[in-house]
Amino acid sequence: MNDTAKLEKLAREHGTPVMVIDHERIRENYRAFRESLPRVQAYYAVKANSEPAIIKTLYDMGVSFDVASFPEFMIVYENIKKLPKKERQDFIWDKIIYANTIKQKETLEELDPYKPLVTYDNAEELKKIKRHCPHGGVVLRIKVPNTGSMVELSSKFGADPGEAVDLVLEALNIGLVVEGLSFHVGSQCNNFENYMQALQLAASIFKESESRGHKIKILDIGGGFPVKYNSKVKSFQTLARKLNTEFKRLFPEDIELLAEPGRFLVANSGTLITKIIGKASRSGKPCYYLDDGVYHTFSGIVFDHCTYPLKAFKDGEKRVSAVFGPTCDAFDTISVAEELPDLEIDDLLYAENIGAYSLASSTYFNGFPPAKVVHINK
Ligand SMILES: Cc1ncc(COP(=O)(O)O)c(C=O)c1O
Repeated sequence: MNDTAKLEKLAREHGTPVMVIDHERIRENYRAFRESLPRVQAYYAVKANSEPAIIKTLYDMGVSFDVASFPEFMIVYENIKKLPKKERQDFIWDKIIYANTIKQKETLEELDPYKPLVTYDNAEELKKIKRHCPHGGVVLRIKVPNTGSMVELSSKFGADPGEAVDLVLEALNIGLVVEGLSFHVGSQCNNFENYMQALQLAASIFKESESRGHKIKILDIGGGFPVKYNSKVKSFQTLARKLNTEFKRLFPEDIELLAEPGRFLVANSGTLITKIIGKASRSGKPCYYLDDGVYHTFSGIVFDHCTYPLKAFKDGEKRVSAVFGPTCDAFDTISVAEELPDLEIDDLLYAENIGAYSLASSTYFNGFPPAKVVHINK
């Protein structure tokens, strides 16, 4: 059976909309990451897709995790919990970083007994950590160039690099230990210069901090690793070669290197199958209405600035068509210019590379639930 026949079979068995997650793809992505960046421990960014089965597959391969909320922390902890009690505590830093620089007081209190690694990027947050999570280790996140990345993060997060060493010393003054420095170049980063500049900034901060009495031990290079959504995306292997050269040139051998890949590990593992539930012709253009839309699995169109070309299971002469989701809002528009053959109600369509930031931001708008999820090759 070829791949499309398998997808059609799964849609028949489970109904639509259905997201098929192929765990072999996830394992391949992780192997590629580890082989290309052997010095870097991957902390999977759970926000990209928090399906517990994905966490389990990655956990079993030795991956660590970046979480950004207490519920995400607990999804990962479900796996750690199986270890003997004695080992759990030593293990926690090796397995989890809480990488949301802004945390509710209540969350910090919930985290404190686990003595986690948490990030910060300002003095107010430091005071909060000291008061509500005094047993945590801290990692300072700096702002770095995000130019040309698909999702920009630097306007919301990151200390100005010029203030970094003062923020490190301030943490030490109030009795917290700064274990590391982190940054994020923006998600789906196709401009590798962002990483090069970020490493240069980080190296200066490492040096200055050491000269002022505190040696930072961890460098966390965040996420951003590009997924081959189309032929314009540059190769991850090229990026990895550049990173390895710069690690060697700019940093001491004994620092620990971390990264927080999200989409790189899961985007191409997800294929969505959706059904045509309505059809119309408006101003001469074929319009198809699907059982999934931008309030659901296609939410990445809005939040992730991503596009997911739709493919039909049928051949035929293609026409520019509009494709909408099932809700009663006109905003629920998947595409106004999709090249599709002539299709009928009940025909299926599929979208590949939709495993990251899709299910994760799906809503129940209009009473339509998120797509079903089917895991294969677990
Ligand atoms: C702190 C942090 N780390 C990691 C990631 C994952 O990034 P990516 O999916 O680009 O690898 C994100 C994404 O928003 C993030 O905010």
